[in-house]
Amino acid sequence: MLIVTIVGARPQFIKAAVVSRAIGEHNVGGGPPINEVIVHTGQHYDGNMFQVFFEELHIPTPAYNLGIDSCSHGLMTGRMLESSEAVLQEQKPDWVLVYGDTNSTLAGTLAAKKLHLRLAHVEAGLRSFNMRMPEEQNRLVADRLSDVLFCPTKTAVTNLKKEGIGNSPYGETVLNVGDVMYDAILFYSDIAEQKSSILDRLEIQPGEYVLSTIHRAENTDVLARLENIILALREIAEETKVILPLHPRTRKILSDWKPSMLGIKVIDPVSYLDMILLEKKCQAIITDSGGIQKEAYFFQKPCITLRNETEWVELVNAGVNYLVGADKNSIVETFNSLRSGTLDFSQDFYGNGTAGEKIVEVLVNHQGIRRK
Ligand code: UD1
Ligand code: UDP
Repeated sequence: MLIVTIVGARPQFIKAAVVSRAIGEHNVGGGPPINEVIVHTGQHYDGNMFQVFFEELHIPTPAYNLGIDSCSHGLMTGRMLESSEAVLQEQKPDWVLVYGDTNSTLAGTLAAKKLHLRLAHVEAGLRSFNMRMPEEQNRLVADRLSDVLFCPTKTAVTNLKKEGIGNSPYGETVLNVGDVMYDAILFYSDIAEQKSSILDRLEIQPGEYVLSTIHRAENTDVLARLENIILALREIAEETKVILPLHPRTRKILSDWKPSMLGIKVIDPVSYLDMILLEKKCQAIITDSGGIQKEAYFFQKPCITLRNETEWVELVNAGVNYLVGADKNSIVETFNSLRSGTLDFSQDFYGNGTAGEKIVEVLVNHQGIRRK
């Protein structure tokens, strides 16, 4: 059986690492062998946004690097579609596997379905209900066109059901397998403790800092929002260390604009093991990242989310994730209010750490299925 995995952006490398490992375990276990061919679209290309994840997480080297990066969404998606189609025509896989909601997901989805190949979407069913988000547009297409939709949560299954996906005339299959990012944390958390020296390198102690990331287009591309977020982080940094591993998108904007970052420790993007150690040892997380909101929960840290909506609504309902948008006062006041009270992190919203295994099992057993 041949699977072509199409990835392109940082969080997709982490998710794909889980399934690649499960494929490796399946092959050692003696089932019908699976051959995985990884295609990297090139969307993320800096060493610390791409190579470091393949090396650290032992992901098989991509057989193809399409080298498509840094252009407008339409152009990027179009070029990725053209190049992925050529790869898929050459490889003729049994399955095409796409992850999440990036432009690489969209291109892989279209390339697969135009060739009538079977498509599986990992992290299906998430919705922000904000159609202006490029990620929402990408998810809607990937979910509508996929043959098998691997959902990470019950909410995701419900979202799809409301759109008629899972019970439509096209005969797709919707499954809640849990979240591959939870599998990743369970596997790498102790390894990060052993291998990462990030706290020493930054000369920080556990519990004495807040971790922040900013990269979402709605924040970086609206200067007033970005300015408010930075002012809030500066105010918080007057009392507590603030560590900000900066996404290249945000770094580019800040290097043109050059606002004062006084008090904030701005660092380059870090590796996955360094990142999860930073998450594990921090006081709290302030982010607009999708994946990091869940990692905050896995490590039982309160999360202040710099967005007006989130796909991970169960965390907001559980009272551990605070949606504050980009309002400076809300960010600072929410941070100050975090110090009191205890939070409940006991619910297993994201499965039991076997999402990767389940995905592989389903792909093997669904080999014969043809969508109508
Ligand atoms: C993309 C995804 C977003 C995801 C994020 C994860 C889309 C529409 N967006 O956003 O859903 O949350 O990845 O990090 O697919 N850049 C570099 N070096 C790199 C990568 C990017 O310099 O290695 C810079 C380039 O200037 C590029 C900009 O960052 O134009 C934005 O990159 P892009 O991949 O378009 O979007 P992200 O903001 O990374
Ligand atoms: N991450 C990382 N290094 C960093 C920032 C993030 O390894 O400097 C990891 C993080 O732990 C999470 C994933 O990247 O697993 C989230 O990716 P990102 O925030 O870029 O995208 P999103 O999840 O918002 O799509």
